[in-house]
Amino acid sequence: MKEIKIGLLGFGTIGAGVVKLLHENRSLIAEKTGALISLKSIADLDITTDRGVNVEGIALTRNADEILTDPEISVVIELIGGYEPARSFALKAIAHGKHLVTANKALLAVHGEEIYAAAKANGVEVLFEAAVGGGIPVLSAIKGNMAANRFSTVLGIVNGTCNYILTRMTQEGADFTEVLKSAQALGYAEADPTFDIEGVDTAHKLCLLLSLCFGTKVDLKDIYCEGITSVSSEDVDFAKSFGYRIKLLAIGKRDGDRIEARVHPTMIPTDYPLADVHGVFNAIRLTGDFLGPVMFYGRGAGMDATASAVIGDVVDLARNLGAGISRRCAPLGYLDEKVGALAIKPIGEIVSKYYIRFQALDRPGVLARIAGALGASGISIASMVQSARSASETVPIVIMTHEARESDVRRALSEIDAFEVIRDKSNFIRIEDNLE
Ligand code: HSE
Repeated sequence: MKEIKIGLLGFGTIGAGVVKLLHENRSLIAEKTGALISLKSIADLDITTDRGVNVEGIALTRNADEILTDPEISVVIELIGGYEPARSFALKAIAHGKHLVTANKALLAVHGEEIYAAAKANGVEVLFEAAVGGGIPVLSAIKGNMAANRFSTVLGIVNGTCNYILTRMTQEGADFTEVLKSAQALGYAEADPTFDIEGVDTAHKLCLLLSLCFGTKVDLKDIYCEGITSVSSEDVDFAKSFGYRIKLLAIGKRDGDRIEARVHPTMIPTDYPLADVHGVFNAIRLTGDFLGPVMFYGRGAGMDATASAVIGDVVDLARNLGAGISRRCAPLGYLDEKVGALAIKPIGEIVSKYYIRFQALDRPGVLARIAGALGASGISIASMVQSARSASETVPIVIMTHEARESDVRRALSEIDAFEVIRDKSNFIRIEDNLE
């Protein structure tokens, strides 16, 4: 039987999952591919800590070059994360004619173009299923069986850490910081958890989804990005009372020659399947012109699920190598020369319904002033709630709007926030309740 030797860069949580999966399912994979996948070496700065997996027969090294230049190794799995040294290692592996499998969404969102070009020049593949949605095979499906469709929208809950935090805030009224600590302990969070909670990890993943769905390059800086740190337990409770749940969504929409590309907390109706995606689970909902809506759901982070996607890519490569073919499909699913550069709509131009929460003194005429300022900016109110008078003298006033242009909402809010009766800055959350 043909043997395919692979090298692993980065022996963290997912790396340990890869070792475990190959140890347990290597013969099963051989039955499916006709190839024996052998993990020859692992490179990491720490090669002494026990990861709780069997490393017998695998060489451990602190020197990545031993893998990158090893002529026996045909596939390099990069699980270091971040930009450097991951970028340099990936380029070196490619330059040495090795296929690259990576879970590194940050790397591809920022340096993807350079890496794909290098892979093309060297006739090797770059596969990255694990970069979006952990174990969910959504990228393969977009490039493969759904390729006959034009996509109009892609909406995703693609950060397990944020979804875990928001779920526990919703279900238990849990404290943000405590829940974040437990997400880190469970191995869901990025090395720098601000990437999770500030929405950056979600933006990295949206960047890849947009490229695959719409065949476009995306500059990460053009994606509007808001994390979950401004979501309060009060907002979570108000959302419930209006029949919504708050999720951090990655949103991509095609609008003629432009696309919407945004990441922010979003209220969605509780009867949407997306609203029932809890904890570390992720979901990606796409709409294709022939397929209609489709939703992928599964574990979006964690050792085992992510290892499943990483090795799924290796299985793909093993089959190609077995058949003597390579680069059957370009990294983004479009011919490289057909990948365009669609413009991204500025956030001020999007149209949405809004939840707005003000903290105001409970005095006669306050509501009329707020409603007047919203009306003057062309914003129509759909419903309104004011809580009972509290000891603190201020009360939350919540307004749900009809569809409005974001620049109008922002202008009205800066005017209202300057009223002497308004305490604290207002908070608003976009609503997505009209999915095709
Ligand atoms: N930190 C990421 C998450 C890991 O929480 O979803 C998977 O990319």
